[in-house]
Amino acid sequence: MRRPFIAGNWKMHLDKQAVNSFCDSLRASSHSDGVTVGVFPPFVYLAHVVEALAGTDIVVGAQTCRPEEHGAFTGEVAAVQVKDVGASHVLVGHSERRHVMGETDVEIRARLDAALACGLDVVLCVGETLEEREAERTGEVVLGQLDSGVTGLDGGELVSRVTIAYEPVWAIGTGLTATPEQAQEVHAMIRSRLATAFSDEISQGVIIQYGGSVKPANVEALMSCPDVDGALVGGASLAYESFAQLIEFNT
Ligand code: 13P
Repeated sequence: MRRPFIAGNWKMHLDKQAVNSFCDSLRASSHSDGVTVGVFPPFVYLAHVVEALAGTDIVVGAQTCRPEEHGAFTGEVAAVQVKDVGASHVLVGHSERRHVMGETDVEIRARLDAALACGLDVVLCVGETLEEREAERTGEVVLGQLDSGVTGLDGGELVSRVTIAYEPVWAIGTGLTATPEQAQEVHAMIRSRLATAFSDEISQGVIIQYGGSVKPANVEALMSCPDVDGALVGGASLAYESFAQLIEFNT
């Protein structure tokens, strides 16, 4: 049985006051025990959110990390530093990191390896652009990103510490959502690739989130797909009221 994982990626949004009031509401929330809930705040608020949510079961993670332990990387934050402030997770390979900051599959893999090595769990984001989808290259692109991110990992570690987030680039922040059929098709493709690369049993244990304009109005239909195990949410995770509707959703 895969435990649903619903997480808010706050990207470069919110301010100190909004973060505080969000954390207060989250602390008081009563989401189901059967759902993992997480937030990925901007770096400047990360340590504060870890402290504000201490003692709850809400996971807190960074939006990226640098693989090197330390060094002359002005503006960057090391995986070990994310771990040091008490965060438990990190996103790697988000489409904005791939397409705005130009991160390559090789760099993304280095971040993933460094995160796992220092004890962080990872959400590996994969997804095709509109152009790639229209050229019928969705499978090739998504599975290429997946292979690059997970080939050679220990299967047990993959199940227990790595979440895959399928985020079609064309659905991120656009209001366009993949239909449940489109999401399910790619999620099933991902799971089948994991079955080939690892085993059926391992592929059945891996959590695969969908991300891209998830909101209260569409979460239920997406989550009812057999291979959709959660959501990585941008815009609808910024106001507690809408995030609450997503995390209180019971599968
Ligand atoms: P939106 O929910 O705003 O489309 O963002 C999705 C996303 O990029 C989550 O990581």
